[in-house]
Amino acid sequence: MAHRSPWRWAIGVFGPVATGLAGAEPSSLVYGPVRILMRRGVLVPSPLFTPVSLGSLTLPNRIVMSGMTRSRAEEPGGLPGRLAALYYAQRASAGLIVTGSINISPEARGYLGTEGLFTAEQVARWREVTGAVHTAGGRIAAQLIHCGRVSHPSLQPGGAAPPGVSDIPADTRIFAYGPDGAPAMVSAGRPRRMDGTEITAAIASFGAAAAAAQRAGFDAVEIQGANGFIVEQFLHPEVNDRDDGYGGSVPGRTRFLLEAVQAVRDAAPGLPVGVKLSPNATINGLTSFEDWRAVHLHAIGQLTVDFLTVVGSAVDGAFLDEVRDVHRGALILNGGFDGACAAAAVTAGRADLVAFARAFLANPDLPARLRTGFPLAEADLTRLYGGGAEGYTDYPAMPATPADARTADARTADARTAGVGDV
Ligand SMILES: Cc1cc2nc3c(=O)[nH]c(=O)nc-3n(C[C@H](O)[C@H](O)[C@H](O)COP(=O)(O)O)c2cc1C
Repeated sequence: MAHRSPWRWAIGVFGPVATGLAGAEPSSLVYGPVRILMRRGVLVPSPLFTPVSLGSLTLPNRIVMSGMTRSRAEEPGGLPGRLAALYYAQRASAGLIVTGSINISPEARGYLGTEGLFTAEQVARWREVTGAVHTAGGRIAAQLIHCGRVSHPSLQPGGAAPPGVSDIPADTRIFAYGPDGAPAMVSAGRPRRMDGTEITAAIASFGAAAAAAQRAGFDAVEIQGANGFIVEQFLHPEVNDRDDGYGGSVPGRTRFLLEAVQAVRDAAPGLPVGVKLSPNATINGLTSFEDWRAVHLHAIGQLTVDFLTVVGSAVDGAFLDEVRDVHRGALILNGGFDGACAAAAVTAGRADLVAFARAFLANPDLPARLRTGFPLAEADLTRLYGGGAEGYTDYPAMPATPADARTADARTADARTAGVGDV
């Protein structure tokens, strides 16, 4: 898997210890020898496999499955598909699973095939998912999203224009319905500027969805403040041109996020709350803006959350040091990590946890693979969105015993010899 990693710097200093094998190069981490070394007590325990708390929730390890939309919801209805429980239960060895983004209201929807958390039927279906994860020994957080202008009239109630912070459209394409009514990639629609009542309603929807998440058995919620959706649209001075107290100054632009967090706290007492941010990221039609540091650091300093996830792909180490200084809860870093970089970041105190997205696609047992050095499988990128079990629930766990591993290796070698390629 190719990684654009800002965390590589740490490897030179912390690599051998962080990978768990003092005195050896990471490349020497192969499955069989690692098991032998572990039995002989030569391995240094990785910091990733120590417990950590997110508010009232204790996790057995520091490996988070980052939110990933897989577009397999049942439509109409925005219901988790019948395979969702299996998909997430297969990944229950993560310290915490974060779901793909879940719409908090009908107006919040920005993509076809995404789930919601605002109807009784959705809550009942999510209950099946959380139950399966708990039975498998895991913990799962609901990621709550309002897409704002990153939407299309074909996804909105009554075919209305998407609700926007302003009427400035997002220069991005989304999966919605095309002119002929068939699913298609289309340009995001021109949004309509929300009035004060609609902003209040959107904030209340975050609270209502958090209460629904609690009823559905989720262990936590994460507000999606990253990747160009409504929270980031409020933070952005070129999208947010409001003069009603929700725009303008740095505190004005962060107000929506802070009020959404408070709504969640009020509606779901005791439920651990997190926020995900992607400072300086240019995604879903957002550009870099001059005071991105100030606005994010102000928001983070004001947040009263149990955990903060920062996608660090577009920031520098100095910014992350400042985040560490102003944030009071657990810090989850994300974006281009492999196991060694993740362990190094935790060892260095830069992160409390690390979130992996793409690595979890084809490696349902990612923590065990990181612990043992078992090679990671590559995901089939043609099956990320939509479809059924293929590329979703059909990735196997690693072999349970060295003998199984040898058999698997032999099969891989046979397949390569036969020109089949990677299996
Ligand atoms: C298929 C796919 C779907 C994603 N969907 C979401 C999502 O629903 N919510 C979210 O916050 N991030 C989403 N992301 C971004 C990931 O959570 C993560 O931030 C990003 O992939 C960087 O982590 P990685 O380098 O470990 O993959 C998605 C990424 C992928 C690959």
